[in-house]
Amino acid sequence: MARHQPPPDVVRYATDLARRIESHNRAYYVDDDPEVSDAEFDRLFRELEALESEYPALKSPDSPTQRVGAPPSTAFASLAHGEPMLSLSNCFDDDELARFDQSLRSELNVEKLTYNAEPKFDGSALNLRYVGGVLQSAATRGDGMVGEQITPNARTIRNLPLRLEGAFGEESVLEVRGEVVMPRSRFERLNARLIDAGSKPFANPRNAAAGSLRQLDSSVTAKRPLMFYAYGIGEHGGRGTEIGVDARLSVQLNWLASLGFSVSSLVEVVYGLAGCIDYYQRIAERRAELDTEIDGCVFKLDDAEQRREVGFVARAPRWAIAHKFPAEEVVTILNDVDFQVGRTGAVTPVAKLAPVSVGGVVVSSASLHNADEIARKNVRIGDRVIVRRAGDVIPEIVGRASGQRPTDARTIVMPKFCPECGSAVEHIGNDAVARCTGGLVCPAQLRESLKHFASKPAMAIDGLGERQIVAFIADGLLKSPVDIYRLHEHRSEIVARPGYGDRSVNNLLASIEASKRTTLARFLYALGIREVGEVTARALADHYKSLVAVRQAAQTYPEQLEAVSAVAKTSADFERQISKAGLRSLPDIGPRVAQCIADFFAEPRNQRVIDELLEVGITWPESDQATRLAALSGTTFVITGQCPSMTRDELKARIEAAGGRVTGNLSKKTDYLVVGSQPGSKRAKADRLGVTELNEADVLALIDGAEAASSD
Ligand code: IVH
Repeated sequence: MARHQPPPDVVRYATDLARRIESHNRAYYVDDDPEVSDAEFDRLFRELEALESEYPALKSPDSPTQRVGAPPSTAFASLAHGEPMLSLSNCFDDDELARFDQSLRSELNVEKLTYNAEPKFDGSALNLRYVGGVLQSAATRGDGMVGEQITPNARTIRNLPLRLEGAFGEESVLEVRGEVVMPRSRFERLNARLIDAGSKPFANPRNAAAGSLRQLDSSVTAKRPLMFYAYGIGEHGGRGTEIGVDARLSVQLNWLASLGFSVSSLVEVVYGLAGCIDYYQRIAERRAELDTEIDGCVFKLDDAEQRREVGFVARAPRWAIAHKFPAEEVVTILNDVDFQVGRTGAVTPVAKLAPVSVGGVVVSSASLHNADEIARKNVRIGDRVIVRRAGDVIPEIVGRASGQRPTDARTIVMPKFCPECGSAVEHIGNDAVARCTGGLVCPAQLRESLKHFASKPAMAIDGLGERQIVAFIADGLLKSPVDIYRLHEHRSEIVARPGYGDRSVNNLLASIEASKRTTLARFLYALGIREVGEVTARALADHYKSLVAVRQAAQTYPEQLEAVSAVAKTSADFERQISKAGLRSLPDIGPRVAQCIADFFAEPRNQRVIDELLEVGITWPESDQATRLAALSGTTFVITGQCPSMTRDELKARIEAAGGRVTGNLSKKTDYLVVGSQPGSKRAKADRLGVTELNEADVLALIDGAEAASSD
């Protein structure tokens, strides 16, 4: 049983242990200079975990054990920054940089200026607020004034100090700004893992960093290899923070490093325009070999007095400028165009290129988006085209390269019929995107819809990935999402397939059965309504609380549009009124999303699919009591070892009562391994697979937290 009040010597010991762990953590992640072996680190860590599980009161928010993530939340709260987070003015060549330097010199009446030169990280900006030297909150940049509060996620970033080194007054406030990035090497591994698990890979390390940071479930963030690089200070005051004021930027950055932050090793103090240009050239040359993506260099006046004197314009300081790298462009041949059909029927022309290396990546295809884009770019099959890759991994075709067009170049013609199912391809309204009208009759749309439906954030059906879906479609077993819930009728056919056995089929069918108990948000997301992602689905579910109410809102939206346009005097008036009505009254839902939701529910075929899904027994709790039951829905646990306060079966029942799933089969799809005393070999395996470990107390806290969050 967990005891309550820890004796003072235990508190002292645990506090010291936490400090030692954090110091080793810092040596490993920030200084790149480990002081102890991994095994020793793990031993200390487990010791602290055991103490905290015995005395939950020891579990402070800055404990190193909190880096594994907190229970999932349902939405991000807004958080105002203590000081606004500004942006940077840009320039793209030396002339513009010279003008920047010239204007500062004449204003300050100084011959040669000293700049702090830094890489411009290509990641996601983060504001950390420390009170009394302890991390209190973390927020994304948002609109610069107010960001999203993502503290539990930030806590999982290993090189980010939860407690600062140095003596801070209890009330002292220090905001540290910096960029969260994902190292390129780790990004590639993450993408390989995502593809393996049937999830969508990220387009580039920046998106991966931003996406990982904005997870509602911070235990997902904890598994992502994120790094934080500090580059500045926001609000500051109180004992211990004096240095933030009136300091040279170069001094500030050294100070931040002494507090425990990673500061880029590429930072330098440079003199005059020539120093800036030289720095830019040196960094540009090294760019490809850096493990962190950067998209330019930033030059900031080093001197505090000078910065104060030149001040700000609008939302950017006049004392800083980013010199961005030009996007790399190469020329290659457009060999052919394929047409790919997506989940929503969008027919996308994809250019097949003669393989060419751009920015360190071999590119052999690029999206041409739609017919308007093709016309605008004026490219034909056989043309020499310019391909660009800007910071992004997704390459784009800029246009035709100069020179003669080959005489046999062929015009790209959008298909009138779907290349996958032969249904008509149409443009809806003045949408530039052509869409296959086949719906689920189209195998491409069916495949993509089913993949989406079964995916982890949707119905979370383990064992039903692309490979199985393609095979079951080919066999005629799956024609609509509803058929997933009829697969048990074809059990013997499936068992007979190569690569299947009794056990795997049992697991698949159990997982399908378990998916029937879901939440309204997951169900709405699973439907694959255009423009409705996880966040919007959750907003709809939170706001309307029942499917009936969502349907009703979708169906009355066209009438509301009509009613408002009949009375509105100007377009601004129209916008003001409609944004108070129905679907549009939700902060996340703009005109485009609202129209997509309305269109989806207006379609009889979609209505039928929904009704059939409800008929096969998909349910979610609509009452408070029942909402609690689905708090852990879609989360899988494996238990190993003896739990301290209950039997394994009891713990299993608790997890299942909260909607979670307990299996004996540990795989990379397992969310958590629950570790008791004398754990088996599963522990080492979980470590290898990167599965998060919890102890009994953590699980109970997770259940409590998830229940509290879903009954809010
Ligand atoms: S300083 C007062 N320094 O670029 C100036 N920003 O356009 C505030 N960024 O969202 C920014 N590397 O996240 C600064 N070395 C660096 C940076 C940097 C990347 C990002 C930052 C901001 C954007 C500004």
